Amino acid sequence: MRSGNARYCLRKHEIGHTAENALELPGDLTVQANSTPVHSSQTQPHPKLQATIARHLQHVFRREPSAAGRRAFTALGERLLGAAFVLDAGCGTGDSTVALARVFPDRLVIGVDKSAARLVLGQRRLVRADAPPNAILLRCELVDFWQLAATTGLRCTHQFLLYPNPWPKPEQFKRRWPAHPILPAILALGGEIELRTNWRVYAQEFATALRLAGRLSSCEAFVADSPLSPFERKYAASGHLLWRCRASLGSTTGS
Ligand SMILES: C[S@@+](CC[C@H](N)C(=O)[O-])C[C@H]1O[C@@H](n2cnc3c(N)ncnc32)[C@H](O)[C@@H]1O
Repeated sequence: MRSGNARYCLRKHEIGHTAENALELPGDLTVQANSTPVHSSQTQPHPKLQATIARHLQHVFRREPSAAGRRAFTALGERLLGAAFVLDAGCGTGDSTVALARVFPDRLVIGVDKSAARLVLGQRRLVRADAPPNAILLRCELVDFWQLAATTGLRCTHQFLLYPNPWPKPEQFKRRWPAHPILPAILALGGEIELRTNWRVYAQEFATALRLAGRLSSCEAFVADSPLSPFERKYAASGHLLWRCRASLGSTTGS
């Protein structure tokens, strides 16, 4: 699964003995209970967050989706039109995609990630006999996915953003999803949205974005009794306080 000659939509029957399967596992995929909490000089939502969000909510995000993103999206787009589907955004190795596919057996559950190395591990899981048939992994840049989904008018029933990289330095805040110009497209995809993180500030920033967009949200610390993803498992085992922010984004297909 390399860009340039990629098979973007990865399903059971498409998996073979490919060179991709020989990729080495990224080191951070091992679940260890010694993860350090997020360190940042930023201890509150960024002072420029509200102005940034307000600007993004008012202006169209003028960006051309990448050719690779278009190809990946096209591979799946028709299956999603009018379908009840769940997005696992930044699914990594797809553990959460599989778990969510079992929670929502009547929906397609699409795990999207840009990392080929992580998705290869998910592919291996999807070929097992007990893998849920409604789980699909897609290699795609999320900004492309959300942008193309908004253009196509797709609506999902649920979106999960599990432990996205929070870019914790203050000067990086515009890379976080709440302060990113893609925010309106995330909101347009609709459904019940849930972001989980081990960084309180990030959950608060997401709640701020939802509030400014006129959505009621709940933001709370929680205990992950049954971790949904490897990072959740790792952070829970390391004793981190976990946060989640949830909201209903409005009308969906099949919810
Ligand atoms: C910290 S890992 C979390 C993985 C998984 N959700 C979990 O909780 O175990 C963040 C994941 O998001 C993916 N990611 C980050 N930014 C992305 C983007 N712009 N487009 C697609 N994937 C992205 C990374 O490749 C990585 O797999």
